[in-house]
Amino acid sequence: MYKTPLSSTPINITGLADILRAYEGKSVMKIVEDFETALRKYTGAKYVLALNSGTAAIHLALKALGVGPGDTVVAPTFTYVATVNPILYLGATPLLVDSEPTTWNISPELLDTAIKEHVRKKMKPRCVIVVHNYGMPSKMVELRGVCNSYEIPILEDAAEAVGSRYKGALAGTLGQIGILSFNNNKIVTTYGGGALITENEEIYRKTLFWATQSREDKPYYEHTDIGFNYRISPLNAAAGLLELKGIDSRVAERRQVFDRYREILGNRNDDITWLEEPSGHFSNRWLSTLLFSHPLKINEIMAKMELNSIECRRLWNPMHLQPYYQKYPAFVNGYAEKLFQQGLSLPSGNLTDASTVSSVLNQMP
Ligand SMILES: Cc1ncc(COP(=O)(O)O)c(C=O)c1O
Repeated sequence: MYKTPLSSTPINITGLADILRAYEGKSVMKIVEDFETALRKYTGAKYVLALNSGTAAIHLALKALGVGPGDTVVAPTFTYVATVNPILYLGATPLLVDSEPTTWNISPELLDTAIKEHVRKKMKPRCVIVVHNYGMPSKMVELRGVCNSYEIPILEDAAEAVGSRYKGALAGTLGQIGILSFNNNKIVTTYGGGALITENEEIYRKTLFWATQSREDKPYYEHTDIGFNYRISPLNAAAGLLELKGIDSRVAERRQVFDRYREILGNRNDDITWLEEPSGHFSNRWLSTLLFSHPLKINEIMAKMELNSIECRRLWNPMHLQPYYQKYPAFVNGYAEKLFQQGLSLPSGNLTDASTVSSVLNQMP
């Protein structure tokens, strides 16, 4: 346990008890329905399905987009492993694509090259997964341009980007299907949970069916398809009802944390690159991230932070370099590897933690 964690939300016991008390004597599934309604209101989406993880949401979204054995699905190489694993659950092959330097997300140019080559080999990808790393929205106009030209749907993995916006629209509503994560370290947590967002009624109905063990609506148990136990639990949904209320102030505070770090560390001589917001991109600054020009600096800082019980994390180790995933096809330009070698995430949960971290960093030569 770190005294200063990277990103965590202590349980608000009184707040949670108040929420639960309001449901005394009612069906527990009403809590889940109300959480979905709150998410629909917040995102403006037509259909929202609350699930027990963001990973489950990606799995069902890919299945709904028709992904199956033998298919290819494009995913960024610079991401958390949960983006890629569901492709494998469905027997499909990930096609890993590197990042571009302004948002650190999937590069539209490299995506175009990767798709073109696969189309030439008669292996047109079934879907493209776009991730908004650390909350920074991807270059959606350019990515949509590429995907539309090949008629390939976008699954938007907005797990880290709840509250981020692209040209005014909320992350999660920018692709054919969107997913969110509410795990312990996320900006809105249900202490385990996720959601699938869609405008398409058929996708909503199918994914709800699969998430509830594909149980037919009959007075006895009948199953005409394989199913999963992916629905969110009422207790997690109750936490979500509470936490979602604070989303705007959470985003505001995390943005202040990022500004504080930049203000304090900006004067140092370390040659730091910050993940800046391009015009039209509004980041929730889930994690404050920075690049040092010298990779050794990272080890030095992490050792110092460890001594002070401060949790820092290296950026994602790209999927194409991971022992299990290096066998899959990849289109790389070296940028994801540079991010891994030179990047660091700092504690981002609140301004008090940011002050503690800044003062330790400032004591360093
Ligand atoms: C980019 C990305 N995708 C998917 C997930 C999966 O979410 P969960 O942990 O809720 O399964 C996460 C977070 O863990 C993530 O960071």
